[in-house]
Amino acid sequence: MIPDDAFSLWKEYFQGDPEVRAVAPGRVNLIGEHTDYNQGLVFPVAIDRRTSGLFRAASRDQCRLISGQAGAEAPFRLLGSSPKRWTRFAWACGRALSEHVDEAVPALEGVVWSDIPKGSGLSSSAALELCLLSAWNAVGAYGLSNHELAKIAWRAETRFVGVACGVMDQMASALGEAGRAIFIDTRTEEFSGWRIPEGLGMVVMDTRKRRALASSAYSHRVDECRRSAQALGITSLRDATLEMIVECRSHGLDDVAARRARHVVTENARVLAFREGLERDHRPSIGTLCHESHQSLKYDYDVSSPELDAMVEASALAPGFVAARLTGAGFGGCCVGLIERSKFRSFQAAVLGEYKRHNFTRPHIFEVTASSGAKAGAV
Ligand code: GLA
Repeated sequence: MIPDDAFSLWKEYFQGDPEVRAVAPGRVNLIGEHTDYNQGLVFPVAIDRRTSGLFRAASRDQCRLISGQAGAEAPFRLLGSSPKRWTRFAWACGRALSEHVDEAVPALEGVVWSDIPKGSGLSSSAALELCLLSAWNAVGAYGLSNHELAKIAWRAETRFVGVACGVMDQMASALGEAGRAIFIDTRTEEFSGWRIPEGLGMVVMDTRKRRALASSAYSHRVDECRRSAQALGITSLRDATLEMIVECRSHGLDDVAARRARHVVTENARVLAFREGLERDHRPSIGTLCHESHQSLKYDYDVSSPELDAMVEASALAPGFVAARLTGAGFGGCCVGLIERSKFRSFQAAVLGEYKRHNFTRPHIFEVTASSGAKAGAV
């Protein structure tokens, strides 16, 4: 399912035909926030907002990529230095892939098209990475599994782009399943799909507010967790317990380290309880767990914002409401809501009406459905 716009873009910039088409979804995370870089549990869903593209192996050793949204960038060589703008993700993927297959990979040329709002916390960069890597996998006939592609994408992001993120976004984009949320234990990398009950709709509520310095604030949290684990005498917060935190608090563990650790411990427990709630379609517990998750992200983890808080509050008053919380890294971006699917229109109108009282930027509120993960094939 490649949009016609991508074909038009191809004709505008390239002669001859593309060889490979590829598509990869963005994601929302239902619960399990800021746990993935602590070897914890996450529960994302791949959504029907995607990055897709048309590609072929370039005849020279220069990659040339055009984006319908971010524009054409100067060609670059995989062995050269990193490009500055969005194509740095492609450069990073090519480098990480080449390391993985232990040989030079062909330069890629092509066009990408995306309907994932950029920088909103719906993993537009992971979708771009998985789209490109799926294409490369097909062009080079490497036969890599989607799980392997997710790990290569993660390596591209952490080692070559330099963002100290966890593996959730790449795994979600690679391993998504239609109608299912993906439970992932980021320590063992085991994952499984869990059916989302029929009548339960998913809504993205994009505040359209990006907090400046979000990426440095994210790295700061990663560091704080590392320090907190060290102070607790463990290698990662996955092994922390509430007893341990209380005990260490009396031996000088500082307040920030204790709160970060408490968020991770309680959030991991909430993921398991949420999975059970989803399986039984027990909406009251789904609602309570999301509420607790949001509060923990707000007070213990300090990653909410006035807009995200207002959105969660506004949605709780709307018809059809089941659950809401911030999703993704926070510091602005989106909330995810679970609602009675049939009530979407009245839910949307009520949230917009209530949120308006705050005089924030008008948000975007839209439904999403759980979709399959990245794939590529011949055009
Ligand atoms: C971002 C990162 C993920 C994860 C979330 C927070 O989306 O890319 O790895 O840490 O934030 O849960």
